[in-house]
Amino acid sequence: MERILSGIKPTGELTLGNYIGALRHFKDFQNRGDVYIFIADLHALTMPIEAETLRNNSRDIAAFYLASGLDPKRCTIFLQHTVPAHAELNAILQNYLYMGELKRMTQFKDKCSKMNDNQIGLGIFAYPVLMAADILLYDATIVPVGEDQVQHVEITRDLVHRFNSRYGEVLVLPRAEVTKVGARIMSLCDPSKKMSKSDPKGDIFLKDPLSVSRKKIMSAVTDSGSEVRFDPAAKPGISNLLTIYAALKDITPQEAEKRFAKFRYGDFKKAVAEAVEEELGPFKARYEKIIADRSYISVLRDGAKKASLVAAKTLRRVQKAVGLLSVDE
Ligand code: AMP
Ligand code: TRP
Repeated sequence: MERILSGIKPTGELTLGNYIGALRHFKDFQNRGDVYIFIADLHALTMPIEAETLRNNSRDIAAFYLASGLDPKRCTIFLQHTVPAHAELNAILQNYLYMGELKRMTQFKDKCSKMNDNQIGLGIFAYPVLMAADILLYDATIVPVGEDQVQHVEITRDLVHRFNSRYGEVLVLPRAEVTKVGARIMSLCDPSKKMSKSDPKGDIFLKDPLSVSRKKIMSAVTDSGSEVRFDPAAKPGISNLLTIYAALKDITPQEAEKRFAKFRYGDFKKAVAEAVEEELGPFKARYEKIIADRSYISVLRDGAKKASLVAAKTLRRVQKAVGLLSVDE
Protein backbone atom coordinates (compact mmCIF):
# COMPACT_ATOMS: atom_id res chain seq x y z
CA MET A 1 0.00 0.00 0.00
CA GLU A 2 1.24 3.50 -0.82
CA ARG A 3 2.05 5.85 2.05
CA ILE A 4 1.32 9.43 1.14
CA LEU A 5 2.61 12.39 3.12
CA SER A 6 2.49 16.13 2.66
CA GLY A 7 2.41 19.35 4.65
CA ILE A 8 1.99 23.08 4.38
CA LYS A 9 3.80 25.56 6.56
CA PRO A 10 1.71 28.10 8.45
CA THR A 11 3.75 31.14 7.48
CA GLY A 12 1.10 33.35 5.94
CA GLU A 13 -2.32 33.35 4.48
CA LEU A 14 -2.84 30.48 2.06
CA THR A 15 -3.24 31.45 -1.57
CA LEU A 16 -5.05 30.08 -4.56
CA GLY A 17 -1.59 28.78 -5.58
CA ASN A 18 -1.39 26.62 -2.46
CA TYR A 19 -4.94 25.49 -3.05
CA ILE A 20 -4.46 24.48 -6.68
CA GLY A 21 -0.88 23.22 -6.37
CA ALA A 22 -1.35 21.21 -3.20
CA LEU A 23 -4.39 21.39 -0.94
CA ARG A 24 -7.07 20.61 -3.51
CA HIS A 25 -5.51 17.25 -4.35
CA PHE A 26 -4.81 15.92 -0.90
CA LYS A 27 -8.28 14.40 -0.53
CA ASP A 28 -7.92 12.35 -3.74
CA PHE A 29 -4.98 10.49 -2.23
CA GLN A 30 -7.31 9.02 0.39
CA ASN A 31 -8.40 6.55 -2.30
CA ARG A 32 -4.83 5.62 -3.16
CA GLY A 33 -3.34 4.73 0.20
CA ASP A 34 -2.57 5.67 3.74
CA VAL A 35 -2.49 9.48 3.97
CA TYR A 36 -0.59 11.67 6.48
CA ILE A 37 -1.12 15.42 6.18
CA PHE A 38 0.45 17.78 8.67
CA ILE A 39 0.96 21.43 9.53
CA ALA A 40 4.68 22.21 9.26
CA ASP A 41 4.74 24.55 12.25
CA LEU A 42 8.41 23.94 13.10
CA HIS A 43 9.29 24.88 9.52
CA ALA A 44 7.31 28.11 9.95
CA LEU A 45 9.82 29.19 12.61
CA THR A 46 12.65 29.20 10.09
CA MET A 47 11.79 32.80 9.16
CA PRO A 48 10.80 35.41 11.79
CA ILE A 49 7.11 35.11 12.68
CA GLU A 50 4.96 36.48 15.53
CA ALA A 51 3.72 33.84 17.97
CA GLU A 52 0.09 34.90 17.59
CA THR A 53 0.35 34.80 13.80
CA LEU A 54 1.80 31.31 13.87
CA ARG A 55 -1.01 30.10 16.15
CA ASN A 56 -3.74 31.64 14.00
CA ASN A 57 -2.24 30.37 10.75
CA SER A 58 -1.96 26.87 12.18
CA ARG A 59 -5.66 26.86 13.11
CA ASP A 60 -6.51 28.11 9.65
CA ILE A 61 -4.57 25.37 7.90
CA ALA A 62 -6.18 22.70 10.06
CA ALA A 63 -9.61 24.07 9.13
CA PHE A 64 -8.63 24.36 5.46
CA TYR A 65 -7.52 20.73 5.43
CA LEU A 66 -10.89 19.63 6.76
CA ALA A 67 -12.78 22.00 4.45
CA SER A 68 -10.90 20.58 1.46
CA GLY A 69 -12.44 17.16 2.03
CA LEU A 70 -9.76 15.43 4.07
CA ASP A 71 -11.63 13.00 6.30
CA PRO A 72 -10.03 12.29 9.67
CA LYS A 73 -11.49 8.78 9.54
CA ARG A 74 -9.52 8.06 6.38
CA CYS A 75 -6.31 10.01 6.98
CA THR A 76 -4.11 11.34 9.76
CA ILE A 77 -3.97 15.11 10.27
CA PHE A 78 -1.54 16.56 12.83
CA LEU A 79 0.74 19.38 13.88
CA GLN A 80 4.42 18.66 13.24
CA HIS A 81 5.58 19.74 16.71
CA THR A 82 3.16 17.36 18.45
CA VAL A 83 5.17 14.39 17.18
CA PRO A 84 8.58 14.78 18.86
CA ALA A 85 10.10 12.14 16.58
CA HIS A 86 10.38 14.82 13.84
CA ALA A 87 12.91 16.76 15.91
CA GLU A 88 14.65 13.59 17.06
CA LEU A 89 15.12 12.16 13.58
CA ASN A 90 16.22 15.62 12.44
CA ALA A 91 19.04 15.48 15.01
CA ILE A 92 20.31 12.26 13.49
CA LEU A 93 19.80 13.06 9.80
CA GLN A 94 21.56 16.43 9.98
CA ASN A 95 24.80 14.48 9.92
CA TYR A 96 24.05 12.94 6.53
CA LEU A 97 23.35 16.06 4.48
CA TYR A 98 26.24 18.38 3.72
CA MET A 99 26.81 22.14 3.77
CA GLY A 100 27.61 22.21 0.05
CA GLU A 101 24.35 20.64 -1.04
CA LEU A 102 22.25 22.64 1.43
CA LYS A 103 23.79 25.89 0.19
CA ARG A 104 22.68 25.07 -3.35
CA MET A 105 18.97 24.74 -2.51
CA THR A 106 16.93 27.25 -4.53
CA GLN A 107 14.62 28.10 -1.63
CA PHE A 108 17.60 28.87 0.61
CA LYS A 109 19.22 31.01 -2.07
CA ASP A 110 15.96 32.87 -2.79
CA LYS A 111 15.28 33.59 0.86
CA CYS A 112 18.80 34.34 2.04
CA SER A 113 20.81 35.74 -0.88
CA LYS A 114 20.27 39.30 0.33
CA MET A 115 20.98 38.54 3.99
CA ASN A 116 24.36 38.36 5.68
CA ASP A 117 25.48 35.34 7.68
CA ASN A 118 24.64 37.04 10.95
CA GLN A 119 20.97 37.22 9.99
CA ILE A 120 20.50 33.73 8.60
CA GLY A 121 19.18 31.29 11.20
CA LEU A 122 20.49 27.75 11.22
CA GLY A 123 16.91 26.50 10.74
CA ILE A 124 16.41 27.99 7.29
CA PHE A 125 19.75 26.56 6.18
CA ALA A 126 18.92 23.13 7.58
CA TYR A 127 15.29 23.27 6.33
CA PRO A 128 15.66 20.24 4.01
CA VAL A 129 16.96 18.07 6.88
CA LEU A 130 13.77 18.53 8.88
CA MET A 131 11.72 18.05 5.74
CA ALA A 132 13.54 14.78 5.06
CA ALA A 133 12.76 13.70 8.63
CA ASP A 134 9.07 14.54 8.06
CA ILE A 135 8.93 12.37 4.99
CA LEU A 136 11.07 9.45 6.11
CA LEU A 137 9.42 8.97 9.51
CA TYR A 138 6.27 7.74 7.78
CA ASP A 139 8.02 5.58 5.17
CA ALA A 140 6.24 7.77 2.63
CA THR A 141 6.41 6.60 -0.97
CA ILE A 142 4.51 9.55 -2.48
CA VAL A 143 4.93 13.21 -1.55
CA PRO A 144 2.39 15.48 -3.29
CA VAL A 145 3.85 18.99 -3.63
CA GLY A 146 3.95 22.01 -5.90
CA GLU A 147 6.92 22.45 -8.20
CA ASP A 148 8.94 24.60 -5.79
CA GLN A 149 9.25 21.74 -3.30
CA VAL A 150 10.48 19.05 -5.69
CA GLN A 151 14.12 19.90 -5.01
CA HIS A 152 13.59 19.18 -1.32
CA VAL A 153 12.15 15.76 -2.10
CA GLU A 154 15.10 15.10 -4.41
CA ILE A 155 17.63 15.85 -1.67
CA THR A 156 15.66 13.50 0.60
CA ARG A 157 16.13 10.81 -2.03
CA ASP A 158 19.88 11.50 -2.12
CA LEU A 159 19.93 11.13 1.63
CA VAL A 160 18.11 7.78 1.48
CA HIS A 161 20.64 6.39 -1.02
CA ARG A 162 23.55 7.63 1.08
CA PHE A 163 22.10 6.32 4.34
CA ASN A 164 20.97 2.95 3.02
CA SER A 165 24.24 2.25 1.24
CA ARG A 166 25.95 2.61 4.60
CA TYR A 167 23.42 0.93 6.92
CA GLY A 168 21.29 -1.32 4.71
CA GLU A 169 17.64 -0.91 3.68
CA VAL A 170 16.56 1.23 6.62
CA LEU A 171 14.82 4.18 4.92
CA VAL A 172 12.07 4.05 2.29
CA LEU A 173 12.67 5.97 -0.96
CA PRO A 174 10.00 8.64 -1.55
CA ARG A 175 9.10 10.41 -4.78
CA ALA A 176 7.50 13.78 -5.40
CA GLU A 177 4.18 13.84 -7.21
CA VAL A 178 3.47 17.17 -8.83
CA THR A 179 0.02 18.33 -9.83
CA LYS A 180 -0.42 17.98 -13.59
CA VAL A 181 -2.15 21.31 -14.08
CA GLY A 182 -1.28 24.21 -11.80
CA ALA A 183 1.95 23.13 -10.11
CA ARG A 184 3.08 26.72 -10.39
CA ILE A 185 0.38 29.39 -10.30
CA MET A 186 1.83 32.83 -10.99
CA SER A 187 1.11 36.23 -9.46
CA LEU A 188 -1.82 38.07 -11.07
CA CYS A 189 0.20 41.32 -11.05
CA ASP A 190 3.43 39.90 -12.35
CA PRO A 191 3.10 36.54 -14.10
CA SER A 192 6.88 36.09 -14.05
CA LYS A 193 6.67 35.61 -10.26
CA LYS A 194 5.15 32.69 -8.35
CA MET A 195 1.92 33.44 -6.47
CA SER A 196 3.23 33.40 -2.92
CA LYS A 197 1.98 34.32 0.50
CA SER A 198 3.51 37.81 0.42
CA ASP A 199 1.99 39.86 -2.38
CA PRO A 200 -1.42 41.27 -1.40
CA LYS A 201 -2.33 42.49 -4.89
CA GLY A 202 -1.15 39.65 -7.11
CA ASP A 203 -2.30 36.84 -4.85
CA ILE A 204 -5.75 35.53 -4.18
CA PHE A 205 -5.93 34.55 -0.55
CA LEU A 206 -8.30 31.79 0.48
CA LYS A 207 -9.64 34.13 3.14
CA ASP A 208 -10.33 37.01 0.72
CA PRO A 209 -14.04 37.79 0.42
CA LEU A 210 -15.27 36.48 -2.94
CA SER A 211 -15.85 40.04 -4.16
CA VAL A 212 -12.14 40.77 -3.57
CA SER A 213 -10.91 37.70 -5.46
CA ARG A 214 -13.22 38.64 -8.32
CA LYS A 215 -11.72 42.15 -8.43
CA LYS A 216 -8.20 40.77 -8.40
CA ILE A 217 -8.95 38.51 -11.35
CA MET A 218 -10.71 41.24 -13.28
CA SER A 219 -7.65 43.47 -12.88
CA ALA A 220 -5.06 40.74 -13.51
CA VAL A 221 -2.26 41.74 -15.87
CA THR A 222 -2.91 40.47 -19.38
CA ASP A 223 -0.71 40.49 -22.43
CA SER A 224 -0.63 42.49 -25.62
CA GLY A 225 -2.95 41.31 -28.39
CA SER A 226 -6.50 40.22 -27.76
CA GLU A 227 -6.46 36.49 -28.32
CA VAL A 228 -7.05 34.01 -25.49
CA ARG A 229 -4.24 31.56 -26.21
CA PHE A 230 -2.20 29.19 -24.02
CA ASP A 231 1.40 30.18 -24.57
CA PRO A 232 3.24 30.70 -21.28
CA ALA A 233 6.30 32.30 -22.93
CA ALA A 234 4.50 34.80 -25.17
CA LYS A 235 1.33 35.24 -23.10
CA PRO A 236 2.21 34.59 -19.46
CA GLY A 237 -0.75 36.49 -17.97
CA ILE A 238 -3.46 34.86 -20.08
CA SER A 239 -1.78 31.45 -19.78
CA ASN A 240 -1.79 31.76 -15.99
CA LEU A 241 -5.54 32.50 -16.00
CA LEU A 242 -6.14 29.58 -18.37
CA THR A 243 -4.18 27.34 -16.00
CA ILE A 244 -6.24 28.48 -13.01
CA TYR A 245 -9.47 27.81 -14.89
CA ALA A 246 -8.28 24.45 -16.21
CA ALA A 247 -7.08 23.27 -12.79
CA LEU A 248 -10.41 24.12 -11.17
CA LYS A 249 -12.40 22.40 -13.91
CA ASP A 250 -10.10 19.36 -14.11
CA ILE A 251 -9.31 19.90 -17.78
CA THR A 252 -6.08 20.75 -19.60
CA PRO A 253 -5.09 24.35 -20.40
CA GLN A 254 -5.42 23.42 -24.09
CA GLU A 255 -9.03 22.39 -23.56
CA ALA A 256 -9.64 25.62 -21.66
CA GLU A 257 -8.08 27.55 -24.54
CA LYS A 258 -10.58 25.97 -26.95
CA ARG A 259 -13.48 26.92 -24.71
CA PHE A 260 -12.45 30.60 -24.79
CA ALA A 261 -11.11 30.87 -28.32
CA LYS A 262 -13.73 33.43 -29.34
CA PHE A 263 -13.81 35.37 -26.08
CA ARG A 264 -12.52 38.86 -25.43
CA TYR A 265 -10.17 39.27 -22.46
CA GLY A 266 -12.89 40.86 -20.30
CA ASP A 267 -15.43 38.06 -20.78
CA PHE A 268 -12.74 35.45 -20.35
CA LYS A 269 -11.70 36.98 -17.03
CA LYS A 270 -15.31 36.98 -15.90
CA ALA A 271 -15.52 33.24 -16.58
CA VAL A 272 -12.32 32.63 -14.62
CA ALA A 273 -13.64 34.72 -11.73
CA GLU A 274 -16.85 32.68 -11.74
CA ALA A 275 -14.94 29.39 -11.70
CA VAL A 276 -12.95 30.60 -8.69
CA GLU A 277 -16.12 31.72 -6.91
CA GLU A 278 -17.90 28.43 -7.59
CA GLU A 279 -15.04 26.50 -6.06
CA LEU A 280 -14.05 28.77 -3.19
CA GLY A 281 -17.58 29.75 -2.12
CA PRO A 282 -18.58 26.36 -0.65
CA PHE A 283 -15.01 25.72 0.52
CA LYS A 284 -14.98 28.95 2.50
CA ALA A 285 -18.37 28.19 4.03
CA ARG A 286 -17.07 24.84 5.30
CA TYR A 287 -13.96 26.55 6.65
CA GLU A 288 -16.03 29.14 8.57
CA LYS A 289 -18.11 26.42 10.17
CA ILE A 290 -15.05 24.42 11.26
CA ILE A 291 -13.35 27.49 12.74
CA ALA A 292 -16.54 28.31 14.65
CA ASP A 293 -17.16 24.82 16.07
CA ARG A 294 -13.44 24.19 16.74
CA SER A 295 -13.77 20.60 15.55
CA TYR A 296 -10.17 20.75 14.30
CA ILE A 297 -8.85 20.55 17.88
CA SER A 298 -9.88 16.95 18.51
CA VAL A 299 -8.81 15.99 15.00
CA LEU A 300 -5.30 17.33 15.67
CA ARG A 301 -5.18 15.63 19.08
CA ASP A 302 -6.12 12.23 17.66
CA GLY A 303 -3.82 12.78 14.69
CA ALA A 304 -0.84 13.39 17.00
CA LYS A 305 -1.45 10.04 18.72
CA LYS A 306 -1.80 8.09 15.48
CA ALA A 307 1.19 9.75 13.83
CA SER A 308 3.38 9.30 16.92
CA LEU A 309 2.92 5.52 16.88
CA VAL A 310 4.11 5.22 13.29
CA ALA A 311 6.92 7.77 13.70
CA ALA A 312 8.28 6.18 16.88
CA LYS A 313 8.76 2.85 15.11
CA THR A 314 10.77 4.38 12.28
CA LEU A 315 12.82 6.44 14.71
CA ARG A 316 13.73 3.30 16.67
CA ARG A 317 14.76 1.56 13.46
CA VAL A 318 17.07 4.43 12.55
CA GLN A 319 18.50 4.76 16.07
CA LYS A 320 19.33 1.08 16.04
CA ALA A 321 20.91 1.24 12.58
CA VAL A 322 23.30 4.06 13.48
CA GLY A 323 24.31 2.43 16.76
CA LEU A 324 22.41 4.31 19.45
CA LEU A 325 22.31 1.85 22.33
CA SER A 326 18.82 0.72 23.25
CA VAL A 327 17.87 0.19 26.88
CA ASP A 328 14.39 -1.13 26.07
CA GLU A 329 13.70 -4.66 27.16
P1 AMP B 1 4.11 26.60 1.25
O1 AMP B 1 3.24 27.79 1.17
O2 AMP B 1 5.50 26.92 0.80
O3 AMP B 1 4.05 25.88 2.57
O4 AMP B 1 3.54 25.60 0.17
C1 AMP B 1 2.54 24.65 0.41
C2 AMP B 1 2.30 23.85 -0.84
O5 AMP B 1 1.72 24.68 -1.86
C3 AMP B 1 3.57 23.25 -1.46
O6 AMP B 1 3.29 21.96 -1.96
C4 AMP B 1 3.90 24.21 -2.56
O7 AMP B 1 4.65 23.60 -3.58
C5 AMP B 1 2.50 24.61 -3.05
N1 AMP B 1 2.52 25.95 -3.67
C6 AMP B 1 2.94 27.10 -3.11
N2 AMP B 1 2.81 28.14 -3.97
C7 AMP B 1 2.31 27.64 -5.13
C8 AMP B 1 1.97 28.19 -6.41
N3 AMP B 1 2.11 29.49 -6.67
N4 AMP B 1 1.49 27.36 -7.36
C9 AMP B 1 1.34 26.03 -7.11
N5 AMP B 1 1.64 25.45 -5.93
C10 AMP B 1 2.13 26.22 -4.95
N1 TRP C 1 8.45 22.66 2.68
C1 TRP C 1 7.06 22.51 2.39
C2 TRP C 1 6.54 23.83 1.82
O1 TRP C 1 7.08 24.87 2.04
C3 TRP C 1 6.27 22.13 3.61
C4 TRP C 1 6.75 20.82 4.12
C5 TRP C 1 7.48 20.58 5.24
C6 TRP C 1 6.54 19.54 3.49
N2 TRP C 1 7.75 19.26 5.36
C7 TRP C 1 7.18 18.59 4.31
C8 TRP C 1 5.89 19.15 2.32
C9 TRP C 1 7.20 17.24 3.98
C10 TRP C 1 5.89 17.79 1.99
C11 TRP C 1 6.55 16.84 2.82
O2 TRP C 1 5.57 23.80 1.15
